[in-house]
Amino acid sequence: LNSTAALRSIDRNPAASPSPAVRVAISRDTLRALLQQLLKVRAHTLAITAPLSAEDCQVQSMPDASPIKWHLAHTSWFFETFLLGEFSHHYVPFDPEFKVLFNSYYNAVGAKHPRLERGLLSRPSLARVVDYRQHIDAALGAFVSVVAEADLRTVLERVTLGLNHEQQHQELMLTDLKHLLSINPTAPVYYANAPHPEALTNENPDRATQWISLSGGLIEIGHDSSTQATTRFAYDNESPRHRTFVEPYAIANRLVNNGEFLAFINAGGYRDPSLWLSDGFDQVQRGGWAKPLYWQQDSRSHWHEFTLSGLHTLDPEKPVCHISFFEADAYARWAGARLPTESEWEHAATHATSAHLLLQRDDQLWQWTASSYLGYPGFAAAKGAVGEYNGKFMCNQFVLRGGSVATPAGHTRTTYRNFFQPEKRWQFTGIRLARNQPQQR
Ligand SMILES: [Fe+2]
Repeated sequence: LNSTAALRSIDRNPAASPSPAVRVAISRDTLRALLQQLLKVRAHTLAITAPLSAEDCQVQSMPDASPIKWHLAHTSWFFETFLLGEFSHHYVPFDPEFKVLFNSYYNAVGAKHPRLERGLLSRPSLARVVDYRQHIDAALGAFVSVVAEADLRTVLERVTLGLNHEQQHQELMLTDLKHLLSINPTAPVYYANAPHPEALTNENPDRATQWISLSGGLIEIGHDSSTQATTRFAYDNESPRHRTFVEPYAIANRLVNNGEFLAFINAGGYRDPSLWLSDGFDQVQRGGWAKPLYWQQDSRSHWHEFTLSGLHTLDPEKPVCHISFFEADAYARWAGARLPTESEWEHAATHATSAHLLLQRDDQLWQWTASSYLGYPGFAAAKGAVGEYNGKFMCNQFVLRGGSVATPAGHTRTTYRNFFQPEKRWQFTGIRLARNQPQQR
């Protein structure tokens, strides 16, 4: 898999990164163009593996993470199952065994291999999985001519969903790989220019947090899927657009940085139960948590941070990264603030204009919100197996907003809702603070 050309395309802004759009004017030409865009995105997935060995691609480092090989296969399975198998009548599956092996969580599709045992699949080999990808790419390349006219709209929507699914797995590949490499005591380098959060630049000489005050009121959030003009893609969980009431609030213009989080640690933040939710403090004790996931302290008490480009001295100016909801919530309480709700976040992202800029909005770290992940009023999951994509996870998870250094460019938008359980911290997650604002009378 090694190739220097592929290595160069690992950068976060590959030309292939799309802003997917489904036009109401459905045509075969639209589908042809979208499939070409998709093939570029899929090529980028493979490029991510260029610096990796077959052994790197095999291992599953923890239950939440999947082997790179599994990601490569599963993103191909997605198109075989939900596109080629459904809409291409002459399509022959590459290997019937893969239907179960690489099903992630779609119960409507049938049986699935246990998630915890993904790393135990030494067969198929990485080479065979790469063959599988090429088989799917070839079928996608020829697909435009075999789609029935009546299926065009559904197929366009399905290809767009698959393209976004592929991009989500690109980010997961980087986070899963980071976890895998982090448990190797030699602190391996994945790639010298691998994505990592950046400190604010000299354009922001005053790095103290500025508070952006917003009056709130009856606001609207969510994606308007009823728009008749060209409609940008959004997942089903971002709709319907709806009204919600927000009290006056203030939101931080930037993310919490390493220096500030270190002050929380040095003040005994991890040991003070009064700062933590009950489940959070249980997790701190169970996990022996005393620092963010990838921080390390050397024998001289100097702090370092493991990254995809190896071990680095901790930079106090960079945003604090790999933080769970529980840690974000405890830090906010210690700092005399709180986490924003997702309504507040989206309102601020939409209305904090150039005079009150929301910095590090969607290009550094996902930002935990205080909002449980629930369906919006009137939410209905998509019909069929793809309806399992988002809706069935609306329990015991919290919403994150924004996007991260590992998110493919153009993948997210202001209404985008990411979600994870409150103890998870292997994603590129950070903290933006909010606080209440006295009512203006
Ligand atoms: Fe998936």
